[in-house]
Amino acid sequence: MKIAFFDAKPYDKPSFEKYGQEKGIKFKYFETKLNEDTVDLAKGFDGVCAFVNDTINDVVIDKLNEMGVNVLALRCAGFNNVDMKHAYGKLHVLRVPAYSPYAVAEHTMALLLTSIRRIHKAYIRSRDYNFSLANLTGFDLHGKTVGVIGTGRIGRVFIDICRGFGMKVLAYDKFRAEGLDNGDTIRYVELDELFKNSDIISLHCPLTEETNHIIDEKALEKCKKGVVILNTSRGGLVDAEALLAGIKSRKVGAACLDVYEEESDIFFEDNSGHIMEDDTLARLISMPNVIVTSHQAFLTEEALENIAETTVNNLVSFFETNQCENELCYRGGNTHDCKDGKCF
Ligand code: NAI
Repeated sequence: MKIAFFDAKPYDKPSFEKYGQEKGIKFKYFETKLNEDTVDLAKGFDGVCAFVNDTINDVVIDKLNEMGVNVLALRCAGFNNVDMKHAYGKLHVLRVPAYSPYAVAEHTMALLLTSIRRIHKAYIRSRDYNFSLANLTGFDLHGKTVGVIGTGRIGRVFIDICRGFGMKVLAYDKFRAEGLDNGDTIRYVELDELFKNSDIISLHCPLTEETNHIIDEKALEKCKKGVVILNTSRGGLVDAEALLAGIKSRKVGAACLDVYEEESDIFFEDNSGHIMEDDTLARLISMPNVIVTSHQAFLTEEALENIAETTVNNLVSFFETNQCENELCYRGGNTHDCKDGKCF
């Protein structure tokens, strides 16, 4: 089976080659992203493999359909970049629902510690033999309250990590996890209470119409002065303009962003020789209390192995049985896991 692999990066190839060769799946790697301009590259392939910043909109779906390509293997969990409604009946969409919640949760804590203990500043100073401690004062995490929005796989690992630091947890989820609320150190609350009482807010829910800009001007108004915002989920969860305004007004104490609303043409690429066109991102990056990483939270050896193994297994399962337990389906206004392939 031949699969067109879009947005290929050097770190993708070793694990995909290993599992692909084992299972008879041949990948052709394209560095370009999958979108309306590049979809023709998929001609003659049995399927396409895409990542978070590929654009699988109605035009792309129709073109794939015309070319007889009817399977899309997402090598990620999120699917907000796929027009699932339009894909219904035309394109089987497979995904990797979980590859390492630890990778993302640990990166979130790494960002938080870097930010509040000013490690990013200290690192640069000591490389210049500047051993002054001026303006490096941080604060203890112990005893602080973290608000966790989205208590799925990643959110729950992040909660465990925070509990290890002796933090209190206020959680919010549309679908509460059974047994998580202990009535004491971990409590489910409504969003307003989470905003009002959290020292740190971390986002771990998917990007949907409902969660789009869940952190906006109004939400920030409700927050404590000095709140730290962590986003390792999806850029669209945070209204970047409102965040910038909150930082300028000193309402937001710090922000750590692994994702950004307009990241698709910027992140994962070396833009160091270019003029940054996005003024909001440029201004955010210029702030001493903002740390931006380039959608790297997933990037561990373990996660890359799991991504490749699951993607290959998904394709094998689909080609051999026409079913895949990790198939997504849009029906009745909802995207959900389609375990038996009957939703197509
Ligand atoms: P999950 O599906 O296990 O958990 C998501 C949670 O969000 C669920 O508990 C769900 O009930 C909740 N949720 C859904 N709608 C909600 C709403 N309207 N309000 C509040 N909560 C809501 O997903 P997982 O594996 O924990 O991943 C979470 C997110 O992390 C993904 O959607 C993806 O966007 C992001 N992610 C980021 C990565 C990175 O490299 N930065 C890598 C992997 C995932």
